[in-house]
Amino acid sequence: MSLNRQIEVWLHSRIESFRQADRPFITLTYAQSWDGSVTNRCGETLNFSGPESTQITHQLRSLHDGILVGIGTILSDDPQLTVREWDGPNPQPVVLDSQLRTPPTARICHHPDKACWILTSSGESDILSEHASVIPVGDSDSERQEVPLTAAMKLLKERGLNSLMVEGGATVITAFLKAGLVDGLVLTVAPRLLGGYKAIDELLASDSGEPLLIKPIHTGQAGSDLVVWGDLQYGDSAA
Ligand SMILES: NC(=O)c1ccc[n+]([C@@H]2O[C@H](COP(=O)([O-])OP(=O)(O)OC[C@H]3O[C@@H](n4cnc5c(N)ncnc54)[C@H](OP(=O)(O)O)[C@@H]3O)[C@@H](O)[C@H]2O)c1
Repeated sequence: MSLNRQIEVWLHSRIESFRQADRPFITLTYAQSWDGSVTNRCGETLNFSGPESTQITHQLRSLHDGILVGIGTILSDDPQLTVREWDGPNPQPVVLDSQLRTPPTARICHHPDKACWILTSSGESDILSEHASVIPVGDSDSERQEVPLTAAMKLLKERGLNSLMVEGGATVITAFLKAGLVDGLVLTVAPRLLGGYKAIDELLASDSGEPLLIKPIHTGQAGSDLVVWGDLQYGDSAA
């Protein structure tokens, strides 16, 4: 079975067997160097994935109802978050942006077939462009706080998203892991040593201090990149 097909079979079975009714199935996906860096420096763009693993990323996008990134990634990379290297539908784009810093000129605000959902905690509710709508989440008095993730995931489920791909960046990756909201992980490891901005920050300083486990684990090679995927196990289930 091809690597693309193996990942698809795994993901379909995980989404189908997911039983939590109050949020989507959440897959965390990102590319890192062998030393765990996602880029050279925070805010810098560095595309170090090969064409084969880029294709897997686009395939994964097409297999999820929604795709989410943080405002840091919008400001540094200006991603389109569309499916271009694979045949399949575009997922619903979602941005975590508590202070409404998404520029109306961002490519995500000019999506070919979907209005981007900008989740905010600022209490404002405005339209950035005809292709983006601002959705307040949580307590509108908490003006300087980040978007509350549990409430945000409940809202996405209510809006019809049964599966969500979280594509970074590092702050968002860490926040989802700390919140216990990750069900599956697909990691692309490029054969480089960057010594740069790490994908996961201060995770082990979280309240429980428990390491997270990926089990069962699957591996494959896409060009010169290693692809590792599996189910994320928290707490007792990690034993
Ligand atoms: N290698 C890869 O696969 C990959 C993928 C994506 C990005 N990147 C890289 O990662 C870097 C960007 O990462 P980043 O850490 O700066 O930014 P980020 O994770 O994309 O976005 C973080 C921002 O999201 C907002 N946010 C709102 N609610 C949040 C919540 N509940 N939890 C966490 N964040 C929340 C916060 O800004 P506000 O408080 O203003 O809302 C926060 O600063 C770039 O250099 C990019 O190139 C790499």
